[in-house]
Amino acid sequence: MDIGIWLRGLGLQQYELAFRDNAIDAESLPDLTEGDLEKLGVLLGHRKRILRALEDLRAAAPPAPSPAAPVRAEAERRQLTVMFCDLAGSTALSARLDPEDYREVITAYHRAVADVVRSFDGLVAKYMGDGVLVYFGYPQAHEDDAERAVRAGLACIDAVGRLDVKSVKLQARIGIATGLVVVGDLIGEGSAQEQSVVGETPNLAARLQALAESETVVIAAGTRRLLGDLFEYRDLGGVEVKGIAAPVPAWQVLRPSAVASRFEALRGAALTPLVGREEEIDLLVRRWARAKAGDGQVVLISGEPGIGKSRITAELEGRLRAELHIRLRYFCSPYCRDSALYPFIDQLWHAAEFGHSDPPTAKLEKLEALLSRAAPRDEDVPLVADPCHWRFRSAIRYPTSARSARKNGHWKR
Ligand SMILES: Nc1ncnc2c1ncn2[C@@H]1O[C@H](COP(=O)(O)OP(=O)(O)OP(=O)(O)O)[C@@H](O)[C@H]1O
Ligand SMILES: [Mg+2]
Repeated sequence: MDIGIWLRGLGLQQYELAFRDNAIDAESLPDLTEGDLEKLGVLLGHRKRILRALEDLRAAAPPAPSPAAPVRAEAERRQLTVMFCDLAGSTALSARLDPEDYREVITAYHRAVADVVRSFDGLVAKYMGDGVLVYFGYPQAHEDDAERAVRAGLACIDAVGRLDVKSVKLQARIGIATGLVVVGDLIGEGSAQEQSVVGETPNLAARLQALAESETVVIAAGTRRLLGDLFEYRDLGGVEVKGIAAPVPAWQVLRPSAVASRFEALRGAALTPLVGREEEIDLLVRRWARAKAGDGQVVLISGEPGIGKSRITAELEGRLRAELHIRLRYFCSPYCRDSALYPFIDQLWHAAEFGHSDPPTAKLEKLEALLSRAAPRDEDVPLVADPCHWRFRSAIRYPTSARSARKNGHWKR
């Protein structure tokens, strides 16, 4: 159950941040007392509403685990990607602003970071002043936690940069490291309780964050290894890190790379020799022959993750290399599940050869040039140019140019 949704259901979404700041989750929620709610700053009338809802929740809850079940998780070793996010120039900001205003700024900043992190399924482990400590890979592990962390980092920088609170310009900077940690017992009590994570990784992420320039994401070698060519990087060489004797290799992540296929980005061009799969490849080649004869074919390859679907399509591509054909590739992304048109937007992005630093007008011109080959009427171009997606604009860099171009009056209608 999501606390935010639950509170929204009660019309009390204004307390979401207070709940999250105090690490109140679905598990601890039913245990809240009126005194706890008061400490959280919940008004009397709202406390009563929440207490009534909690009664209903407890009545509907499944029975507690049997006494034999372990109450505390054992300390466990696991791979974690740790992200450290900090607000650049916050000391100067706190000196310049009235404390109440500063608090408002920090709250908005925390909320922006927490929203982004949640959308990538990360966990905000702790707020430390203006620093935010985030885990990817705990409690829920994903095969692409390192990538999630970096995409979240880029999106945080964008989200924080777009905040407009008290007319101050905010800039985040981010350090990310991946490695083995020991997730241990719960330490602290009550709402201050947190899961201890011990190891070099959180320290390294914090140190890299301190070295990062404003609005940049700096990653350590463990993270870099898992990312392949999914992003473009600037090699920072070996950086001196307090507490670690030898220089630590570090990279700045510039942007998502233009590689269209995740398979290629992660595995590189050199494929291991194909083993087996003769039947599947034969079938595809036969279907291709039928398609060439004018009988259009669709083949769906489906199977468990990692079973070799992409490898089969790569093999087919190899076999067809000598033949004249047009290949169109559309890729879904686990980060854009709520954008049905994402594969098409992304394909157009590559086909039009947008550069990440192209100004909106240049992107619009490229798009018009691309679409003019199919000779659409002028009024059709805005339909294609208008982006369908807004959430991860900076992380994935959609062709948002057209919207701003239209706003700025560059549309010829
Ligand atoms: N028949 C094969 N011969 C050699 N290597 C293979 C074969 N099938 C798969 N592989 C290798 O195994 C790895 C996983 O395969 P692949 O990425 O194609 O799986 P997938 O089904 O596309 O996975 P996902 O569902 O994650 O997209 C790759 O490194 C791929 O090169
Ligand atoms: Mg695949």
